Amino acid sequence: MIEIKHISKTFQVKEQEFKALDDVSLHIPLGHIYGVIGVSGAGKSTLIRCVNLLERPDTGHVMIDGVDLTQLSNAKLVEERRKIGMIFQHFNLLSSRTVAQNIAFPLELGGIPKAEIQQRVTELLALVGLSDRSDAYPANLSGGQKQRVAIARALANKPSVLLCDEATSALDPGTTKSILTLLKDINEKLNLTILLITHEMEVIKSICTDVAVIHQGRLIENGPVEAIFTAPKTAIARGFIESSLNIELPLAYQSRLQAQYTSGDSAVMQLFLADDAHHFTFISSLKEQFQVDVDIISAQVDYVGKVNFGILYLLLKGEKDALDKAQAFFTQNYSKIDLLGYVR
Ligand SMILES: Nc1ncnc2c1ncn2[C@@H]1O[C@H](COP(=O)(O)OP(=O)(O)OP(=O)(O)O)[C@@H](O)[C@H]1O
Ligand SMILES: [Mg+2]
Repeated sequence: MIEIKHISKTFQVKEQEFKALDDVSLHIPLGHIYGVIGVSGAGKSTLIRCVNLLERPDTGHVMIDGVDLTQLSNAKLVEERRKIGMIFQHFNLLSSRTVAQNIAFPLELGGIPKAEIQQRVTELLALVGLSDRSDAYPANLSGGQKQRVAIARALANKPSVLLCDEATSALDPGTTKSILTLLKDINEKLNLTILLITHEMEVIKSICTDVAVIHQGRLIENGPVEAIFTAPKTAIARGFIESSLNIELPLAYQSRLQAQYTSGDSAVMQLFLADDAHHFTFISSLKEQFQVDVDIISAQVDYVGKVNFGILYLLLKGEKDALDKAQAFFTQNYSKIDLLGYVR
């Protein structure tokens, strides 16, 4: 379990103070995979580095399994840090050591007997699927294999928490998927709590239980993925979700949009689909209820956690009054629907 309580961090940049983190609090329960998303410079790496005190927050507390790291002596902190594994975008392996020696490294530092180290390394190699590469050097591994070594090394001391700083950002989509699958697998097998930061919504969508959105050092939104994906409260969260859906109004419609309704026009609406099967029942009943014809221009529906979410671009044809009523009814009873304009 990780508890981040009111942490702030200011950097001094050429006489100027820069607030990289501003009063961030997060509670990450045991066994959850918590994703933090934000644009470049939002403060993600600073946040994750504050969790194991690689960066010391100016104010606030970080508790791992109930122990407040900010209150520990240096010697105690070294000990507590063993409960925190960390992996990075660029793997940070030791190039002069083999795969097995890289994984053994933290155990050697901990003064573990040789035979025990050997046994543990064998287990870890099997866990990450690299039993046949134990004597290889990092230079001869693929990116995905390097990250597997880094994961095994991070797990060597049996941590209760794993921190991942853009762990898949240097990998191609297929390899990203296999590393995320491995993280999920480890999370389930070991009941490991994972905090991962990313700028890709795909990563959040595929394995996270919860998500926090960070922007200019502030936590602007957080909660279970189901809740955030189906009902984002901020434009920034909504933007991340839209970009992950890879959909926008086709140019042919964008160029024809008018702000004013003229008799005979159709309304172009963007509907945010939140997990609710009644959407389609409602769409198909629009004609009966409001004398409005509906066509779907384009649609993208996806699945996260245990719910559907998505965006539909709809073309609604009818009298202005009927269109207004249909939109109002939708907003009141289902989910968000925005009027983008009218087309002939
Ligand atoms: N040691 C430092 N000294 C001065 N400024 C820093 C330092 N570390 C980070 N910053 C600044 O704090 C802000 C947040 O940086 P951070 O690395 O946490 O962002 P990020 O969200 O991880 O970005 P990216 O997605 O590019 O990795 C940036 O504006 C950065 O320049
Ligand atoms: Mg970063």
